[in-house]
Order: sequence, then C-alpha cells, then structure tokens
Amino acid sequence: MVQTPASSCSGCVAVFKSVVPKQKLKHARGCQAPPGFLLKGVRLDIIRVEGGHTLSGEVEVAGAKNSALKLMAATLLAPGRTVLTNVPNISDVHVMGKVLKGMGATIEVLDEHRLAIDTSAVTSWEAPYELVAKMRASTAVMGPLLGRFGRAKIAMPGGCNLGARKIDMHILGLEALGVQFDTEHGYINASAPNGLSGTVVTLEFASVGATENLIMAAVRASGTTVIDNAAREPEIVDLANMLNEMGARIEGAGTPVVTVQGVEELHPVEHRVVGDRIEAGTFIVAGALMAGEDGFDVKGFNPMHLGMVIRKMETMGIQVDRIEGGVRVRRAKRIEPTDIQTLPFPGFPTDMQAQIMVLSALADGNSIITENIFENRFMFASELVRMGADIRIESHHAMIHGVRELSGAQVVSPDLRGGAALVLAGLIAEGYTQVSAIHHIARGYEDFVEKLCALGAKVEYVTVPDPVED
Ligand code: EPZ
Repeated sequence: MVQTPASSCSGCVAVFKSVVPKQKLKHARGCQAPPGFLLKGVRLDIIRVEGGHTLSGEVEVAGAKNSALKLMAATLLAPGRTVLTNVPNISDVHVMGKVLKGMGATIEVLDEHRLAIDTSAVTSWEAPYELVAKMRASTAVMGPLLGRFGRAKIAMPGGCNLGARKIDMHILGLEALGVQFDTEHGYINASAPNGLSGTVVTLEFASVGATENLIMAAVRASGTTVIDNAAREPEIVDLANMLNEMGARIEGAGTPVVTVQGVEELHPVEHRVVGDRIEAGTFIVAGALMAGEDGFDVKGFNPMHLGMVIRKMETMGIQVDRIEGGVRVRRAKRIEPTDIQTLPFPGFPTDMQAQIMVLSALADGNSIITENIFENRFMFASELVRMGADIRIESHHAMIHGVRELSGAQVVSPDLRGGAALVLAGLIAEGYTQVSAIHHIARGYEDFVEKLCALGAKVEYVTVPDPVED
C-alpha cells in the first residue's frame, strides 16, 4: 500500500463533562486535566517529560479506539438502545458520538466508560464534512447506513498525515453487493435501489476499513456474502461478535475468509469493547525503556492480540511475561537490533511502528523498519532525530543506527502514534522533552499522562493559559 498534513481533532466536551468528577477538571500543572477537550477556553499545548525516572506498578488499558468507533457505527443497524461498556474516553469517540447524534441518535453517558446509544429515531443517512474531515473513521457509518436504509451520504474523506487513505476497496466491495455510487460537491452518495444482494468479494488488500464496512452492509443483504482476503484484526472479531449477539450470522471473522448470511433484522444488545492492544503495546515499550527492577504489569487486554509485537520485543532482548489479564514487562539490559516490517494482522501492526522505533534507536547495532501499510508514516523519525537518534529514511525503509542515549528536546507530534512515541522517548532521554500538538495523542490515549505518572514517570501538561476563561 506504500505508494500528505491534515486536520487536527479537538474532540467535544459535552458528552462526558456531565460525568467526569469536577476535581479531575482542575486546571493545574502536573498530572491532572486531560489535554484540550475538557476545558473550553484553555489550551493545554504541551506534555513535558523529565527523563530518567523508573516505572513500576500496574497500568490498566482502556477499550480499543479502533473497535469502539466501529461498534458505535454498528449500532445504526439495530434500532433501539445498545449499551457499550469499556468505551475509551478519547476525542475520537466524542467525534463518532457527534456523527451519530447528527443523524438523530441519542447518546446517554451512563458513566465514564459506558454509553447507551439509541438509534431508534435515526432518520438521516448523512455523515457531514466537518466531522469526516476531523476523523476518517466516520466513513465506518457507510456500511451500517446502507444496511439499514439502503442509502448513505458521506463526505469524501481527505488524506491525513499518514497518506492518501483511499476508500476505493470499500466502494468496489459495496458495488459488488449492488450499491451505486456517485459523487458531487465533495460527497459520496451511495444507494442500493434494488436492495443489497450477497456475493463473493475478493479484496485487493486486507483493508481493515473495507472489511468492516462490507460486513456491516452484508449482515442485512439478501443471501450470503463471502469476503475473501479479509482483514483479520482483533477489532474486526470484536465487531463481528457484537453483530452476532445482535442476531447477525457471521462466520470466519479473524480469518482471511469471512462469510455473512444476511438477516431480516438486528436487535440492540450490551457489549464490552475489547481491550486496546495498541495502548498496551505502547506501555510495554515504556516498560522496556524504563521499568524498575521488578518490571510492571500492563493489564486489560489479550496478549494474543499483540503476538508479533511481543515476539519481536523478545528478539530485542526484552522480557515480556504473560500474567493473568495481561503481561509483566521488564527493562531491557541491552537492546538487540532487529528488522521489522509492518503488515496486516497477525503481522507487526503499523500502529506500533513509531513506538518500536524508539527501542531500535537505542539498540546495540543497526535495524531496518519497513512500513508497508501507509505511505507517509515516518514523519515521527525526524522528530526522534532531533533527540539524537541516527535514522535515515529511504522510501518506505527506516535505517536505524543505534545510539547510546537520547537527549531531551522540543518536538512536535506528527500524528497519534508518533506523538505517544515521542513521550516514550522522553522517558529515557537525558533532561526534559517537550511534546507539542498533543491533541493528536488525545485522539487515542485516555489519561496517557496520568497513567504514566501513576507508574512513577515525571510527566506533566504545561498549560498555555487562554484569556477566555470558561
Ligand atoms: C485502520 O485504518 C485503523 N484505524 C488504523 O489505525 C490502522 O493503522 C489501520 O487500520 C491498519 O491496521 C481505525 O480503525 C479507525 P486500512 P483503516 O483500510 O481502516 C489503503 C491508529 O493509529 N487503502 O487497513 O483506514 C489505505 O490508504 C490508526 O489508530 C486503500 O488504498 O486501514 C492504507 O494505506 C491509524 N484503499 C492501507 O490500505 C481502500 O479502500 C490500510 O488501510 C482501503 C485502504
């Protein structure tokens, strides 16, 4: 898929403000107050990290962003009140909430991690530009809307920091199910005048988004749909599990061949979002860098969902032991260089590429990281070079020559995972690191700073007061 800067997401406050305890909203330096989207009028622009503090204890990861967003979209398929639990309190979830509310859904926040989404009164099938521009994942409503209404109107998703991010495979697959597309004024109009009919669709590439949109349309198609070369990510299995709980008939999710038997209707359910393997992987890298003598535990996810990451880290000399509900990670005494290439699941996830590059930058020798999924996911590397790393980018290969240490610097988050990886680099770098454009991090990490502080890190938000107080 390897073959362009984009919108920033500021998230919305209303959904959670009513249930987040007041003291957590206190606007202070240090480990309190998540970045930017909880306090109107005050911009928390920077995360400051003091390097060299060892980490210990335990961290519990939230529900998976890349599942929660699709589960929320899938509630459109089951008119009524679906309850999602273990929902991450992150800005992307807030944006998906706005997309659904814009269509007529109601969202009740039962507590910080439980949402009741009622889609009975949904009458619109449009995902507006301002929200799709903020978050590409809004295109995940296309399949459910076609399944429910036989129609969908989606703003054409632009590119993002990671690359072109086309949806041609979504469209090709849905066309095979009988959907007709036309585009005008920056919108994609999709309709299935004769209804959706099951068929065999072979994906050119195991695209996560295309597999999910096809499954969500096919559950309401007449007959059977077979998706060949389907993506196998754990988040797709989580989506299929919820749809099957709603009355769908999906087999083979998590394998390259998914079979969907269309059904007449789906009913609302209560479903728990799967643990976030990428957030877990991010903390495991933090442990490899700075865990104390006894290591620390990362819980709330299934280690099987990080099989290749853990295997690669063990090759790098990092001890990662399975424990009940997660893993215990210990600091690497010496980091062995190893080559990595990003691939669809169960290969090495592209969403862990930046975090693992921090380890490679400190390895005792040379490593090559090859990015096969996104054209433009090495913007992070130049920021790491500012911290003293020795990295050369050649097309979709990063040639990394390990250095003895990194030094703190002012760096900019290029995207969600790159931003988190810069904070990780700051944990081990000499001196202070200041990471800006942290709204990227808030898109996918709930309480990232608080969780690091709870492990013993010296990390804080540095606030740039805004004159317009709330
Ligand atoms: C999902 O994106 C995740 N996002 C991404 O996580 C993740 O990196 C990616 O899957 C791969 O694992 C969400 O789930 C919200 P794809 P998605 O369809 O669905 C190209 C993060 O950091 N492609 O598998 O967009 C596409 O341009 C984010 O949490 C086409 O060319 O991934 C990309 O290069 C980043 N045409 C590649 O395939 C298509 O029709 C992978 O896309 C579809 C995709």
